[in-house]
Amino acid sequence: MSNKPVSLLAGLPRPTVLLLAAGAALVVGRAVRRRTGSASRPPASEPSRSPALTLLVTAHERLADGVVRLRLEGTGLPPWEPGAHLDLVLPSGLVRQYSLCGDPEDTSSYTVAARLVTDGRGGSRELHEQVQEGTELEVRGPRNRFPLVDAPAYAFVAGGIGITPVLPMLRALPEGTEWRLLYGGRTRASMPFLEEVEKLDAGNERSETGAPPAGGRGRVTVAAEDEEGRPNLDAFLADLPEGTAVYCCGPEGLMAAVAERLPEGAALHLERFAPRTTADGEGEFEVELHRSGRTLTVPADSSVLAAVRAELPNTPYSCEQGWCGTCQQKVLEGEIDHRDELLTDSERGDSMLICVSRCRGTRLVLDL
Ligand code: FES
Repeated sequence: MSNKPVSLLAGLPRPTVLLLAAGAALVVGRAVRRRTGSASRPPASEPSRSPALTLLVTAHERLADGVVRLRLEGTGLPPWEPGAHLDLVLPSGLVRQYSLCGDPEDTSSYTVAARLVTDGRGGSRELHEQVQEGTELEVRGPRNRFPLVDAPAYAFVAGGIGITPVLPMLRALPEGTEWRLLYGGRTRASMPFLEEVEKLDAGNERSETGAPPAGGRGRVTVAAEDEEGRPNLDAFLADLPEGTAVYCCGPEGLMAAVAERLPEGAALHLERFAPRTTADGEGEFEVELHRSGRTLTVPADSSVLAAVRAELPNTPYSCEQGWCGTCQQKVLEGEIDHRDELLTDSERGDSMLICVSRCRGTRLVLDL
């Protein structure tokens, strides 16, 4: 276990800015218990695809440097619980995920916040620059793969825009609940909801070691790197009660650092900005396009989608992150390495999302 302070935005090239796609990952949520070190798939109880709603953007406002908040209004909105996210279909057709950060009791609107990713794939720029008050957006969800579980105590770690799914959780905790929060960002000016977070813990007293007290004041640690430097994760995660639920939303480096330091008896719940990338590929493999009569090589650092689109440029896709289902293709032969969080077990029998999923062997045959 390292004792070094850890950047909450570690692993990101500066000045990269992030869009919570959610999740969650948006977003992928998963729970890890330290004792076993194993990860579990999120519950498959939700329908894989929710019916779409068309909502009106009634507020589009700057919340912090590079962060906007949107309010989307409609009628008969499905309920949601803290940790849930929405799929937004942007005007171009791109689909992006955003954690809900408003009030679950408000049944007439949803609120999301999004950070501009200047070197991203265009979705955040579109949301920042093309969407405005009066824009109608198609919305799917909400879905929740990062739910707040019952636990004797909670520790939340949020990096940058990763505060969005955490905030409704903090508001929902019953009085008397034991919790602590570490909220970090590159600069104070870029951290959304900072004022509200600090109000959650008016005293903000802290021990000499930097560890928060077991309860009461001093539960919130705000670590703006331009002012306080990097936070001490080890101190934050010290002395957690048995069974504490540790929630972390932020960049991959942050989640890895929290997982590495997870104390015995604690359960870790993660919400990613994005699912595993094609860089996680473990070797190249072949894909045969049955109807086209072509065979392609998918390199370890690229996706099936990229290889297929090089041959068949009209192959549909949207999110490129295993969320929307647009790229689903039927598989005729081969063992699929499913890496999405969308398909049901029955759908996985003979199809795959080619933007993220790969091959367990050396060859797949697609019905293309
Ligand atoms: Fe959205 Fe593949 S493009 S799941």
